[in-house]
Amino acid sequence: MDGSGVRPSAAGIAPGTTLVDARGQIPHVVVFGNEKGGTGKSTTALHVVVSLLHQGHRVGALDLDARQGTLTRYMRNRQDYMQRHDLELPVPVYRAIDRSTLADQTDASADETERFNQALAELSSRCDFIVIDTPGADTTLGRLGHTFADTLITPINDSFVDLDLLATLDPDSLKILRPSTYAAMVWEHRMRRQQRDRGVIDWIVMRNRLSHLDARNKREVGQVLETLSKRIGFRLAAGFGERVIFRELFLKGLTLLDLAQLEAQGGLTMSHVAARQEVRTLIEAINLPPAGYRRAAAQSATLRQTG
Ligand SMILES: Nc1ncnc2c1ncn2[C@@H]1O[C@H](COP(=O)(O)OP(=O)(O)O)[C@@H](O)[C@H]1O
Ligand SMILES: [Mg+2]
Repeated sequence: MDGSGVRPSAAGIAPGTTLVDARGQIPHVVVFGNEKGGTGKSTTALHVVVSLLHQGHRVGALDLDARQGTLTRYMRNRQDYMQRHDLELPVPVYRAIDRSTLADQTDASADETERFNQALAELSSRCDFIVIDTPGADTTLGRLGHTFADTLITPINDSFVDLDLLATLDPDSLKILRPSTYAAMVWEHRMRRQQRDRGVIDWIVMRNRLSHLDARNKREVGQVLETLSKRIGFRLAAGFGERVIFRELFLKGLTLLDLAQLEAQGGLTMSHVAARQEVRTLIEAINLPPAGYRRAAAQSATLRQTG
């Protein structure tokens, strides 16, 4: 193992391995994941990053979906906005990892793992929180990201189509037939994580792009999600309504939490205020721990292991 505390191979992480920063603190890792694109992972990831920055934390952002590059473009838009308006906005320490170009799958996987570990070690040494955005597909990089999750956030669009991401349902009775491959993968990561450092993954499913139009559908999806949350072990959080503002802000690299900038631009509309409240409610529901909280927990775990 190198000095960072991150082993070179995430696939074979030994029991007791943890991420440690330069002060001996353990950063809290928030991963955004599911197996589908377009559900709001990158949008929500940026809002969580900016929320943590405004709270004064040192934040790392790791884009594992460099092909889509949403988080990367968000960061670039944010830099451009700051230059154009000659102002300072808080920004995270940012890294993106491209998919390997090596033809051989084993080589490609090793190459991605190495670059992932390097980036994670660097972010760990500088940050209290690391937010990882993953691709909407089962890839080596996506899996590596999940391996380190303390908090896992899965946004889903508010429809029965997206419930497929979590479980297969009987189309008539809406009974849960079996967990999806993604739910099974999260379960596997939870087991591994437990073995590795006795850690737990706090899994949160959030409903995104809630529409005001179909109240009945919304209620039925809500009921199935409640049942599922108990069956496969996640917490349920209300996400964001379907709002154009999320797309507009993306072009500027801003979030609803960059309040001063939005106000300077001509004030907040009612819709902006409502959207911002949704973001705050979500951040509260995620309920991230204070920075550095895990040092004490890890020390007592080590004592238990050695004692
Ligand atoms: N609540 C929302 N209302 C309106 N548009 C949204 C909302 N959440 C996400 N979007 C838009 O949907 C698209 C996909 O979102 P994104 O965050 O890139 O998803 P993912 O990372 O899961 O692929 C983007 O254009 C984004 O602006
Ligand atoms: Mg994305």
